[in-house]
Amino acid sequence: MTTTAKVATRIMSGMRPTGRLHIGHYFGALINWLDFQEKYDSYFSIVDWHALTTKYQASREIPDNVREIALDWLAVGIDPERATVYVQSAVPEIAELHLLLSMITPQNWVEREPTLKDMVRMLAADEKEARDRATYGLLGYPVLMSADILAFRGSLVPVGKDQQSHLEFARDVARRFNTIYGVDYFPEPQPKFTATPLLKGVDGQKMGKSYGNDIKLADTEEDTLKKIKQAVTDRTRIARSDPGHTDLCEVPWPMYQIFGKEITARVKEECESAGIGCVDCKARLGGIINEFLGPIRERRQKLAADPDKVRQILEYGNAKARAEAKKTLSEALEIMGMIRWRY
Ligand code: TRP
Repeated sequence: MTTTAKVATRIMSGMRPTGRLHIGHYFGALINWLDFQEKYDSYFSIVDWHALTTKYQASREIPDNVREIALDWLAVGIDPERATVYVQSAVPEIAELHLLLSMITPQNWVEREPTLKDMVRMLAADEKEARDRATYGLLGYPVLMSADILAFRGSLVPVGKDQQSHLEFARDVARRFNTIYGVDYFPEPQPKFTATPLLKGVDGQKMGKSYGNDIKLADTEEDTLKKIKQAVTDRTRIARSDPGHTDLCEVPWPMYQIFGKEITARVKEECESAGIGCVDCKARLGGIINEFLGPIRERRQKLAADPDKVRQILEYGNAKARAEAKKTLSEALEIMGMIRWRY
């Protein structure tokens, strides 16, 4: 049981269920969430409607992905007793709030969202496909995200820098609601940017599952070793007898900063004196990463073997989230004077 008193600040964040998570997700987000769930009233949402904005053709895959991401979260220690862990689509009040917020959101606010323009460009091969991809729902992405946050009256939102414009959007929507109806109801959510260690994929590019260069939390020991073996090192080090340069080492050295802090001095010395070759150095790193991932994999496997338990955990979180979102929705309707015909 936790004994630390939580402050009243409410934190809300979400992830799209698009597949299994990798170590970049862990060190970029989840590690912070573990800290937040001890300190704040935390709401963590698996945002499957947001996945649908781009994956509508593969909608049938989304529920499996929800399960996968839930397993990853729970395996790393996201605790349904400390945080409210739920599935967005299991809280229909969010959709209703989205509808209400869409009524007060000027069209040009959604049209100028830079992140969406990038998204469509990335997803589409040509102009025609871009028009097809740019659905009404995708255009509403930031409105839906605002509803996610405001349904819980979240005041802090841990997100990456790429989400900054969406968060400003949510703030503008909250302020607009408050102004139009003359209330001080929705808090203007503030971003909580966290220092993200730059974990590159094994090929030295940005780590991402679509690039096939990521190390997943659920990867087996063998797969992890295999992937690390391919990692790009110091491209100027040709022969085993050449001294290496840690500052030119693209992937293993930065990974040692995260996984093997205690031995970085030794690694540097051995590398730069050609005391160790890249092959052996990477094998050692793979071992360290496997040691780190071991307990996570174990917990994940146990949970994966017990689908009822995962279902129960999510149902528990969904119910908690729903009670809160219901309260917000009826208060918002009350403020708008719209609740009269409801019951
Ligand atoms: N847009 C976020 C992303 O792509 C996911 C998200 C949806 C979210 N709703 C949210 C994040 C609410 C924080 C709060 O990463």
